[in-house]
Amino acid sequence: MCGIFGYVGRQNCAKMLVESLATLEYRGYDSSGVAFFEDGGIVTLKAAGRIENLGRLLEQRGETFTTCGIGHTRWATHGGPTDENAHPHSSEHISLLHNGIIENHRELKEFLQRQGYTFLSQTDTESAVHLIDYHYKQCGDFLDAIIAALKEIRGTYAFGIICREEPGKLICVRQENPLLLGVGEGENFMASDIPAFIKYTKQYLVMEPGEIAILEADGITVVDFDKTPILKQPLTVTWDYEAVEKGGYDHFMLKEIHETPLALRNTIAPRVEDGLVRFGEEELPDELLRQAGRITVLACGSAMHAGMVAKGVIESMCHVPVNLEVASEFRGKNPPLIGPNDLTVVLSQSGETLDTMGALKLAKCCGSKVLAIVNVVGSSIAREADHAIYTWAGPEIAVATTKAYSAQIAVAYMLAARMAYVKGLLPEAEFRAFTARLLTLPEQVKGLLAQEAQYQALARAYFQSDNLFFIGRGLDYAAALEGSLKLKEISYIHSEAYAAGELKHGSIALVTDGVPVIALATQSALAEKAVSNIREVDARNAHVMAVCTENLAESLSFVKDLITLPVLPDLLMPSLAAIPLQLLAYHIAVLRGCDIDKPRNLAKSVTVE
Ligand code: G6P
Repeated sequence: MCGIFGYVGRQNCAKMLVESLATLEYRGYDSSGVAFFEDGGIVTLKAAGRIENLGRLLEQRGETFTTCGIGHTRWATHGGPTDENAHPHSSEHISLLHNGIIENHRELKEFLQRQGYTFLSQTDTESAVHLIDYHYKQCGDFLDAIIAALKEIRGTYAFGIICREEPGKLICVRQENPLLLGVGEGENFMASDIPAFIKYTKQYLVMEPGEIAILEADGITVVDFDKTPILKQPLTVTWDYEAVEKGGYDHFMLKEIHETPLALRNTIAPRVEDGLVRFGEEELPDELLRQAGRITVLACGSAMHAGMVAKGVIESMCHVPVNLEVASEFRGKNPPLIGPNDLTVVLSQSGETLDTMGALKLAKCCGSKVLAIVNVVGSSIAREADHAIYTWAGPEIAVATTKAYSAQIAVAYMLAARMAYVKGLLPEAEFRAFTARLLTLPEQVKGLLAQEAQYQALARAYFQSDNLFFIGRGLDYAAALEGSLKLKEISYIHSEAYAAGELKHGSIALVTDGVPVIALATQSALAEKAVSNIREVDARNAHVMAVCTENLAESLSFVKDLITLPVLPDLLMPSLAAIPLQLLAYHIAVLRGCDIDKPRNLAKSVTVE
């Protein structure tokens, strides 16, 4: 959470600071700020609310010229989203911005207050800036002051720091929270994520925990906390700036839903060899799959729902028990029931979710091998895991995940099929047929996207609802949970998802005249039971929309609204069901006038516990 950016070079970076921050807004957007060198001093501008407010402040100053500065977009943890709490925070010599949480901020504050420092904000971060300032006054050296302070700070952080006496120098530090360095010619960048500098350079370095980087226009020096130099190899971004532009769509979310076929193709096709799914030896050795006696799946949010699909598919194809846990809950387990014979699978779009990372580390500590299914290349989770399979969905900007979720499910199918094959449970001919089906998914999804106008029209019947139910059985339950989350996230309509058979054990009491129920029926093996459950809510005069395979249209002709999907094997249906549910949520939220790409209180990359 929180996006940080910094620039040092030769061009006037005043506007760039704000524009680059805007590309990181998905990380938090309740306030923002910049600090930059100008005329021998440091200017700080901060504004509560969206980055537009910060942009206006900058414009109001008139002509600004600076070649070095830092910027921050915030997701509040300590202290509300006010101007005072916005970063950067400043002391006499130092300005600093921070992503993370300083755990011992209270004791540091008490110490610093005793030294005469005045605190202006409610943030944990302010203790760090004064602490560095305190050490700077003692030792007179920018880097040494930072190192001395780091030894006293406990917590998680990525810092960007400038010093009044050192114009043209920017120091950043990483512990836990993500930090990348963009390597340009005569200019260098630091940022939480690639979109912030992709316009200027495609070369970047990944900062590891415990590393400090000193950035100047003509070079970057990386050292550890003992000042031992570290040599780092630059990586190259494989996508273009256009990927982080809306490209004619009204919102990133809509653009990204429409990119699902491409995301699926890029994820599946390179992993098919001679008609069979095959992972690279680095990605996932067959031996690991052959030996896995039990699987634990750990993730948060939508990734957890993709994990639920993975559980269903793996259990069904591989006859291996799969334990699915919300990552934050798994971390609190005492003892965590996991061991060396387990394969742990973590799913994460960003690869930075702190709870997922914590769960991963715990699983590793218990001796389990960890496979990460991740979208962001080089992210912390991908690097910490024993093996990583990338979902090649491309950058996802909208807070609500869509194409990356679909790509995660695609990897789950591939993983399950390969595992069933190497365990001798799936004959080659069937494996080949399954792989061929997988390869048709992009086209099937394209077909559904072409029906967007129908889903858009249906959204009119639901956008004024206050409460809504989603029901489904088996894999449809996982799809229902994700459909419900998507709707909640972006439209703020209260909705609940239930296993269709469970609804009658209490919650059906809330289903009365006109209550909307979106019912999934895509699982042929469970079709009769699903239809019965739909009849139960229809009998209570619910306003039912069924999302079903086209062969069930007749049996469900009694419902008010019907969305049909082509018939694929049951296990693959969640990939199709996701599309109308995402588009419905999107169009309902548009009709309600919601801020689609930046929903209230949310952030895409959750780097706090
Ligand atoms: C946040 C986002 C969700 C996302 C979850 C997990 O809560 O708002 O959309 O599913 O984090 O994120 P990850 O990057 O680990 O998939």
